[in-house]
Amino acid sequence: MLGGGGREHALAWKLAQSPRLGKLHAVPGNPGIAEHALCHAIDLTDHDAVIALCDEERIDLVVIGPEAPLVDGLADTLRGSGISVFGPSQAAAQLEGSKGFTKDLCARAGIPTAAYLRTASRDEALSALGRFGLPVVIKADGLAAGKGVVIAETTDDARAAIADMFGGQFGGQFGGAGAEVVIEEFMTGEEASFFALTDGATIVPFGSAQDHKRVGDGDSGPNTGGMGAYSPARVLTPDLESEVLTRIIAPTVQAMADAGMAYSGVLYAGLMLTAEGPRLIEYNCRFGDPECQVLMLRLESDLIEVLSAVADSWLAAIAPPVFSPQPALTVVMAANGYPGTPQKGGMIAGLADAERDGAKVFHAGTLRDDQGVLRASGGRVLAVSVCAPSVRAARDAAYRAVDAIDFPQGFCRRDIGWREIAREAE
Ligand code: AMP
Ligand code: GLY
Repeated sequence: MLGGGGREHALAWKLAQSPRLGKLHAVPGNPGIAEHALCHAIDLTDHDAVIALCDEERIDLVVIGPEAPLVDGLADTLRGSGISVFGPSQAAAQLEGSKGFTKDLCARAGIPTAAYLRTASRDEALSALGRFGLPVVIKADGLAAGKGVVIAETTDDARAAIADMFGGQFGGQFGGAGAEVVIEEFMTGEEASFFALTDGATIVPFGSAQDHKRVGDGDSGPNTGGMGAYSPARVLTPDLESEVLTRIIAPTVQAMADAGMAYSGVLYAGLMLTAEGPRLIEYNCRFGDPECQVLMLRLESDLIEVLSAVADSWLAAIAPPVFSPQPALTVVMAANGYPGTPQKGGMIAGLADAERDGAKVFHAGTLRDDQGVLRASGGRVLAVSVCAPSVRAARDAAYRAVDAIDFPQGFCRRDIGWREIAREAE
C-alpha cells in the first residue's frame, strides 16, 4: 500500500479484512494504517528504494493510492521489475495529470464535456475569452493539487487568472502546470463522482459518491480536497449511471487502448449532471479522498481479489463487486487553518470512544510523537465514517463520534450530507 492519507487508511483497513492477505506493508503509512500494516519511511519518489522493499518482502501486489507517484511513473517502474500493480501507467495517468490531454481525448471520442480551448499562448487565451461567455473556467494544465482551477465571474478576473497561470504561479512543482491553459465553458448542474475499475478491456462500476469541497458550512469559503462525502450519490440514478458508462467511461477506455496506453486501475469521473445529461468535468486516476472512505465502508467484496483482478487483467473472471445497499457518510476533521496553513501538532484523543457505536475513524494527517501521543500533522486529519440505514442516521452517528473526539485545534463542517438528507425528507 503506497500513500499515507485517509484514502490509504481506508484501503489498508479493507485489504486487512481479506482472507487472502499474507502481510501488509505501507509506504509511508500513518498511525491508523500502522494498525494493519508494517510502515516504512521511504520516499515514494525513490523508485529504486520502493523496488528494493518489494523484493525484500516478496510483495505480490502494490496498491498505489495517490496521484503524484502515478503521474511520476512509479507503476511503470514497478511493472518493469515484474511486480503486479494496481494503478495506471504514467501515460494513462495523463487523464488526471493533463487537463488538455483529457479534453482532446473527449473531443476525439465524442465524450460529453464542456466546450474548451487548449492553448500555450497567452495572447490566444486572452483573445478567445469572448467566445465563452461568463462565468468562464480557466484551468492550468498539469497537477496543481486542486489549485489550478479558477471560475471567473468577470472578464477582468478571467484575464487575471490567465496572466497568473502564464506567469508561472502554478508552475514548477510537477514540471508542467502553467505552461498551458484550458479555457472551458461553465456547466451548471449537480456534481457527482462515479468510480469504475478497468484492466484496460473489462469495465466494472465501482460505486458513486458526492463530496463537499468548500471548507465552510453552507458550501462557503475556499475549496479544499474535500470536507466530507457520502455514497451512493442517489442523484446518479441507474439510468444515468448506465449513460455514464456507455457515453463517457467505455469510450475513454477504448480511446486509451487505441492510443496504446491502456488504462488499468480506478477511473474516477467527476461529473456534472446538466439538463442535457451527465457531462465529464474531469478524470482522476485514483480513488477520491474522502470518497474512498465511504466506498470502502460499503464494499462487501474481497478487496484483494478485486484489485488483483485489475492489476493482472482478469477482471472479466471475477464476480462483480458488491456494495451494501446502506449509505455511508464521512465527516473530515481538519486542523485549524486548513486549507491555508494548518496548525501542526494539535493533540488528538478519544478515538476509541468515537468508534464505540460502530463509527470508523480513518487517519489522514496524523502522527504519533515520541511519547506515543497522537497529533495532527497535516491539513485533513481524520475522516469519521459511518454506514447506516439512511444518510440522516449515518450523519447523526458520525457527528456523535466527532463529538467524542478531543481535538481542540481541529474543526469540521457540521452540515455534511445536507443535500441528500433534504432529499430523504421529501
Ligand atoms: P477540477 O479541478 O477540474 O475538478 O475542478 C474543480 C471544480 O471546479 C469542480 O469540482 C467543479 O466544481 C468546478 N468546475 C471545473 N470545471 C468546470 C466547468 N467546466 N463548469 C463548471 N464547473 C467546473
Ligand atoms: N475529494 C476529491 C478528490 O479526491 O479529488
